[in-house]
Amino acid sequence: MESSLGLLLVLITLAIIYIVQAQDQQGFISLDCGLPANESSPYEERYLSKSDTYIRYPRDIYDREWTPYFRKEWNQISTTHEVSNSNEYVPPKDALATAATPTNSSAPLTVQWSSSNVNNQYYVYRHFAEIQDRLTNDTREFDVVWNGKVIYNRYTPLKFNAQANFARSPRPCEGGRCSLLLRRTNNSTLPPLLNALEVYTVIQFPQSETNENDVVAVQNIKATSGISRISWQGDPCVPQRFMWDGLNCSNKDMSTPPRITYLNLSSSGLTGTIAAGIQNLTQLETLDLSNNNLTGEVPEFLGNMKSLVFINISMNDLNGSISQALQRKGLELFTQGNPRLCFSGSCLPPKPKPFPVGIVASVVPVAIIIVVLVLIVVFKKKKPPTVEALQRPSSVSPLVNVTYDSSPVSSIQMNKRKFTYSEVIDMTNNFQKIVGEGGFGIVYHGTLNGYEQVAVKVLSQSSAQGYKHFKAEVDLLMRVHHKNLVSLVGYCDEGEHLALIYKYVPYGDLKQHLSGKGDKSIINWGMRLRIALEAALGLEYLHSGCMPPMVHRDVKTTNILLDEQFKAKLADFGLSRSFPVGGDSHVSTMVAGTLGYLDPEYYRTSRLTEKSDVYSFGIVLLEMITNVPVIDQARAKTYITEWVGFELNSGDISSFIDPNLHGDYDSNSAWRALELAMSCANPCSTRRPSMSQVVAELKECLLSTDSHSSAEVNMSIDTGMFPTPR
Ligand SMILES: *[C@@H]1O[C@H](CO)[C@@H](O)[C@H](O)[C@H]1NC(C)=O
Ligand SMILES: *[C@@H]1O[C@H](CO)[C@@H](O)[C@H](O)[C@H]1NC(C)=O
Ligand SMILES: *[C@@H]1O[C@H](CO)[C@@H](O)[C@H](O)[C@H]1NC(C)=O
Ligand SMILES: *[C@@H]1O[C@H](CO)[C@@H](O)[C@H](O)[C@H]1NC(C)=O
Ligand SMILES: *[C@@H]1O[C@H](CO)[C@@H](O)[C@H](O)[C@H]1NC(C)=O
Ligand SMILES: *[C@@H]1O[C@H](CO)[C@@H](O)[C@H](O)[C@H]1NC(C)=O
Ligand SMILES: *[C@@H]1O[C@H](CO)[C@@H](O)[C@H](O)[C@H]1NC(C)=O
Ligand SMILES: *[C@@H]1O[C@H](CO)[C@@H](O)[C@H](O)[C@H]1NC(C)=O
Ligand SMILES: *[C@@H]1O[C@H](CO)[C@@H](O)[C@H](O)[C@H]1NC(C)=O
Ligand SMILES: *[C@@H]1O[C@H](CO)[C@@H](O)[C@H](O)[C@H]1NC(C)=O
Ligand SMILES: *[C@@H]1O[C@H](CO)[C@@H](O)[C@H](O)[C@H]1NC(C)=O
Repeated sequence: MESSLGLLLVLITLAIIYIVQAQDQQGFISLDCGLPANESSPYEERYLSKSDTYIRYPRDIYDREWTPYFRKEWNQISTTHEVSNSNEYVPPKDALATAATPTNSSAPLTVQWSSSNVNNQYYVYRHFAEIQDRLTNDTREFDVVWNGKVIYNRYTPLKFNAQANFARSPRPCEGGRCSLLLRRTNNSTLPPLLNALEVYTVIQFPQSETNENDVVAVQNIKATSGISRISWQGDPCVPQRFMWDGLNCSNKDMSTPPRITYLNLSSSGLTGTIAAGIQNLTQLETLDLSNNNLTGEVPEFLGNMKSLVFINISMNDLNGSISQALQRKGLELFTQGNPRLCFSGSCLPPKPKPFPVGIVASVVPVAIIIVVLVLIVVFKKKKPPTVEALQRPSSVSPLVNVTYDSSPVSSIQMNKRKFTYSEVIDMTNNFQKIVGEGGFGIVYHGTLNGYEQVAVKVLSQSSAQGYKHFKAEVDLLMRVHHKNLVSLVGYCDEGEHLALIYKYVPYGDLKQHLSGKGDKSIINWGMRLRIALEAALGLEYLHSGCMPPMVHRDVKTTNILLDEQFKAKLADFGLSRSFPVGGDSHVSTMVAGTLGYLDPEYYRTSRLTEKSDVYSFGIVLLEMITNVPVIDQARAKTYITEWVGFELNSGDISSFIDPNLHGDYDSNSAWRALELAMSCANPCSTRRPSMSQVVAELKECLLSTDSHSSAEVNMSIDTGMFPTPR
């Protein structure tokens, strides 16, 4: 299984510019859309919440970050009417209330940026709404031009009604210059206009990891020669931006694991003998060890490395003689500055020291190929693509705005890594503070680098035994990033000591916030829905964003953690096992999970599918609504599902809704949430919705809670496929 294709998801950058007040800002935004989205970085939220000029939740129901953007050659128009935004992409109304038009009314409206990577591809969502009360004889019509090519002809914005204009597949920019241009047509009396813009960068989850043997070899060289360089962490070759310095690698294509072809340790203060590990870099072409203090003989294996074409061992203190093999044709050898070194034949025969010939049969690399797949959930269930699609809004209101996408410069934390057991002891201060006890082991509080708080899960001996493939699995998990999943910082895999190190999520778990235990505040109804939605998004990502899908297997309220902003993060997915896609579900030998949340069908059949998580999620949702124990022997109806089913007969929602809410909830959304929970907890897995459906339904619940404080349902809300900003 570990050699199976790991298709990892990917995301995307949300970049947004929203033209607000026509302050003359610093002209051009340099949109560096090429960098990976902060969306996928665990640190993104902090950064993005800094400025209060952003528009975000609750003004944006999906909490996208809309940043103002304007240029001096533009003119702002705005409206006080409401602009309807009821298409699937629901740009915030506030962002639509203003728009930019070119000051020179015959000039086009242009938005440009350069991408840091020529191969970057973008999804560009243009949000248009006519917000100018115009004379009846006026027309506004323009072409949408992307890098010189007309991609949408003769578009006329609808009055006070937002439409999203976009392509269903990503587009590249030519030569790294991206330009979006709106050009008025001959018949138009008004210049083009743009209210808001979203740009998503497709992040190619890089190519495969470096060839495993090369990694082992270079780690070995690092260890034996005591090199300590900041960049020498993580994968040596991938991603290219973080390639170790002094190395270069072959990067044929995405799916072939890169090989180390160049090693330059010149002037690195090396001492001792030439590292034997070098012989295991079987594709090495260039080796530069010059200007160090290396001693001993020039190892014979260098002569046997067929790939080598260049060696510089000048300026060291090597001795002995250089073997014939090293004097072969096609190999350039530079040796000056080693006074004690001589060519064979020209000095006394050195003791023939049989050097181990280290040509290692090149083992078929166990490569985990991470293919990059861009899954845009938004598109999943849609009609087949036309060239450019327009989402028709369903109602009318006034406003104008322009947004643009600021792409996030992110520094995805690349130094996730392996820790030694003694580092683990250090960081937990000898396992001093227990913060939890989850499946598979105890969780300790810890501190990394003196300030970063982490939660260290030490796998118990017995569960550790099951983890033959610990490293392979952890490597995979390290690539799983989602803002609603607790991020894995590193791991320890030393003999019997296995530990997972997660980012610490400070605000306790959902259960505490439902019960008020541990001095936790009781969260209100709206917040509960939002937390449910966030947890659902995390699960949906595991199911749909990862290939093969991952089943969490232990969804429960104690595994939903809350951060400072009460954002939900699913914990403990680390030990779910990937299972093969396509048809057959995994048959597991050991049923895992927590009583009460455990899918009865899975329990009976041992067949694990994503639907098992859906069941557990349904129980979580019931618990969030009712706040009664999942199992209560003292109750006539022991299980929460039975209990709710029974109470439902009464038709009175207040009989089972959490009394801690003191009646402060929207009963319409409570009913919907309840129905959703019951359908998730359907005993028959095929009747349960998928997580994507759950997400969509929860979004609607949230929407109806937000917009109607009364119980009235507004059916004009378009249901179903919402974008899922991550
Ligand atoms: C306005 O734009 C048109 C077309 O781009 C250009 O020919 C014209 O010179 C511009 N006028 C001014 C005053 O900049
Ligand atoms: C609109 O066009 C009609 C016919 O071309 C003309 O009679 C009328 O005066 C125009 N109205 C305005 C406000 O320009
Ligand atoms: C628009 O007008 C320009 C110049 O008047 C002309 O060159 C162009 O062909 C016209 N385009 C269309 C679509 O009529
Ligand atoms: C421009 O307007 C004229 C008359 O209103 C119409 O015949 C023509 O088809 C229009 N051209 C375009 C490109 O819309
Ligand atoms: C690595 O090798 C590639 C191809 O030979 C070359 O284009 C690139 O500049 C090299 N990078 C470094 C850092 O030496
Ligand atoms: C190795 O690196 C040094 C400086 O870092 C550079 O001067 C030298 O040319 C490099 N050697 C090779 C073979 O590229
Ligand atoms: C080279 O690799 C082989 C097998 O991969 C390993 O047994 C050997 O110890 C390695 N040699 C060195 C010097 O690292
Ligand atoms: C080999 O390394 C020495 C010392 O760093 C340097 O002076 C020399 O130019 C290098 N030779 C080549 C061919 O790079
Ligand atoms: C080698 O070691 C000596 C003494 O330890 C030191 O003075 C010298 O600078 C070193 N040379 C290099 C190239 O590191
Ligand atoms: C090379 O030098 C090492 C000590 O630096 C010594 O032990 C070894 O015998 C020498 N070898 C030859 C062939 O002189
Ligand atoms: C992304 O995050 C990094 C730090 O994690 C920060 O330096 C950078 O400015 C962020 N960029 C954006 C656009 O949020």
